Amino acid sequence: MYIQTPPMGWNSWNTFGPNISDSLIRETADKMVEEGLLEAGYNYLVIDDCWLLRERDENGKLVPDPEKFPHGMKDLADYVHSKGLKFGMYSCDGTMTCAGFPSSFDYEFQDAKQFAEWGVDFLKYDNCYRPVNFPGRLLYKRMGLALANCGRDILFSACNWGTDGSPEWIKETGAHMWRSTGDINDSWQSVKELTERQFDLLKTNGQGCFNDMDMLIVGMHGKGNVAVTGCTDEEYRTHFSIWCFFGSPLMIGCDVRDMSDETRKILLNKELIRLDQDRACRQPFRVERWGDPFWVRFLENGDVAVAIFNLQDTNTYADLPLADIGLAGRSGKALRMKDLWTNEVIGPFRDHVPFGMIPAHGCRVLRGTVVDA
Ligand code: GLA
Repeated sequence: MYIQTPPMGWNSWNTFGPNISDSLIRETADKMVEEGLLEAGYNYLVIDDCWLLRERDENGKLVPDPEKFPHGMKDLADYVHSKGLKFGMYSCDGTMTCAGFPSSFDYEFQDAKQFAEWGVDFLKYDNCYRPVNFPGRLLYKRMGLALANCGRDILFSACNWGTDGSPEWIKETGAHMWRSTGDINDSWQSVKELTERQFDLLKTNGQGCFNDMDMLIVGMHGKGNVAVTGCTDEEYRTHFSIWCFFGSPLMIGCDVRDMSDETRKILLNKELIRLDQDRACRQPFRVERWGDPFWVRFLENGDVAVAIFNLQDTNTYADLPLADIGLAGRSGKALRMKDLWTNEVIGPFRDHVPFGMIPAHGCRVLRGTVVDA
């Protein structure tokens, strides 16, 4: 299996943690269709940790908790598929999952076969309770090989938080996406930390295996399993813009049965999603000026995306000199820009792009088309 663009979908962990159930998953599937999320590209519905009983059965098989999932996983997968969505599940490379449930160490091929039989299309694979002397570098290969030989296309989502030197070896394992950061929580501080941590890892992102900056917190507003302070809508817009600009997978983490209009507008911003999904998957680069850097990304059709993400606690003002991004004054060319949040078209600009004032924790994301000056 080979993937060309960052995966998109929904994951249960950020809002629901252990409080998951068959009805929650079915209602979420319904909403993903009704709200236009599937149509916008969010096609994986993923159940995270805590779906199991505490012990395997007498044949060593994983047993879904019958109170949470009374109809079993095949029936639920069939329902999710009937909505046009793909079905994702969760396991871990150690002896227990992070929340203490049975995990796939030494059961990799058996579990991969089980997931395939249930109709699973995506496996998030965590990194807790690893036995001594079994490095992640080896254990992720075990599951990578098992999934690639289970008889079904299953996207392998490696979740070892960028630890143990994984940027160096994760692509050896068959992973299609890999967590390049620690766990997100619903706070501006967390968005800022994960963003800064990502700067030096951007060079490893690209087709086949994408840097996963973790599930989105957009729309959580301090409610749910990873709640801390919550964020403002402006902060969620900046968070979403960064994940899209950096080409991260987009896994929604809020309760899609209860979204505000603003949350809908953020998650369904077609232009930002188009940027995230740009098939050239080129690395964004920084243009350093005086304060926050500009971020620039060359796109498949020749357009140029430029952005400022104001991670500071004060407003910032800045102009982007076009010579710094490869558009020399003598080229006879200019950039006509579209603001991807307001849809306003500005320019064309020959020498520099005036970004205006970017409020603390805010952002501006523009998509430029090269035109004659
Ligand atoms: C780890 C992962 C999280 C989540 C929990 C579940 O912390 O990084 O994304 O899956 O485990 O226990």
